[in-house]
Amino acid sequence: MGRDTSAPRVGIIVVAAGSGSRLGEPLPKAFVDLSGRSILSRSLDVVFGLGEAVQLVVVAPAPQLDEARSIVAAAAGAASDACTVVVGGDTRQRSVAAGLDALQPSVEVVLVHDAARALAPRSLFERVIAAVDATGRGAIPGIPVSDTIKRVDASGTVLATVDRSQLAAVQTPQGFVRAELQAAYSADTEDFTDDAALIQHVGGSVEIVEGDALAFKITTPWDLRRAHQLLTESRDAGRPAASGLVVRTGVGMDAHAFDASQPLWLAGLLWPDEVGLAGHSDGDAVAHALCDALLSAAGLGDIGTIFGVDDPRLDGAHADVFLHETVRLLRDAGFVPSNASVQVVGNRPRFAPRKAEAEALLSGLVGCPVSVSATTTDRLGFAGRGEGIAVIATALVVAPPR
Ligand code: CTP
Ligand code: MG
Repeated sequence: MGRDTSAPRVGIIVVAAGSGSRLGEPLPKAFVDLSGRSILSRSLDVVFGLGEAVQLVVVAPAPQLDEARSIVAAAAGAASDACTVVVGGDTRQRSVAAGLDALQPSVEVVLVHDAARALAPRSLFERVIAAVDATGRGAIPGIPVSDTIKRVDASGTVLATVDRSQLAAVQTPQGFVRAELQAAYSADTEDFTDDAALIQHVGGSVEIVEGDALAFKITTPWDLRRAHQLLTESRDAGRPAASGLVVRTGVGMDAHAFDASQPLWLAGLLWPDEVGLAGHSDGDAVAHALCDALLSAAGLGDIGTIFGVDDPRLDGAHADVFLHETVRLLRDAGFVPSNASVQVVGNRPRFAPRKAEAEALLSGLVGCPVSVSATTTDRLGFAGRGEGIAVIATALVVAPPR
């Protein structure tokens, strides 16, 4: 952060030049579809959200070079200047070597990552970079082995059980000090399946950092299905967050005593022949509880602080005045009511005959479905004794992505 982004300190080499023979698809593995995008494209999702600007080098098969370039350009967006796409070799090690040759001079720490580990999370990259920074040694993610491991000979005869506590299954990204990795590669030794093995072969030292199950390598058709299922699950579970939608709930409560000198206004309706409610404005406890639920959902305070009990303009004001103003305040704050519910607690009036009318009126005023229900309290409390009514309301509001 704060560094010159044209001179990145960290280089990430994503190797994607393999054929994927064990996956058995016609296309090279990194270009096979994984839930609507290529495996390579998915593997790049985390690269540009790291805490610092990086140089990305993607190593691709020669026939897919153009396709790799457009995948990289789409992933990088404005950062595409810091990206390089090169042709790989016929072994993984040769492909990494081709990637190393493309690093900018400013790069000090290199991460080598398999495109096939398309779901490796950002935290894993950060952990590896932090470990290399802290120790100057190679850092590779590893997870404990859970199966019992046997040593076997070529004919399939079991020779021995290997002590599992001494084993780790290792993943990528693997991180190294650039100069050390480059020196190891220029020694050009025998072929290894990962970079840590090469570093150790030339006498370097490597430590394990905590790996992540999501960094599994897509190798077989079964792995591809598992990756697809994981993406589908997280998409379903995380939809509101992923789409930037903010969803909030609120609660409101109001209670008023009966006042025989007043007409009854409740849920925005006039109830002839019913005893009215005391209180400022028209005493409509349904409207007031509903306003409180909506305001609290949006974090805008409550009806008392917004409207003030002494405002002469509110004398005798009905539900429409309160609800219109509440919805306007919500809208100004970026929220749209999604639904609301109110429950009236009291002996009278009997709500059932006018429930549909009340719901239609309130839904129209708030601009979302409002459901109304009513209950008694088995003669308990002030509502049960017929001294007044209480109303409880809840509301759900959403702020669409801006
Ligand atoms: N890789 C590469 N160049 C190669 C071989 C492999 O860039 N010559 C990359 C692969 O694209 C993959 C990573 O190294 O992202 C790990 O290799 P692996 O999972 O073995 O992929 P493949 O070699 O493509 O698959 P297979 O061994 O099943 O043929
Ligand atoms: Mg391979």
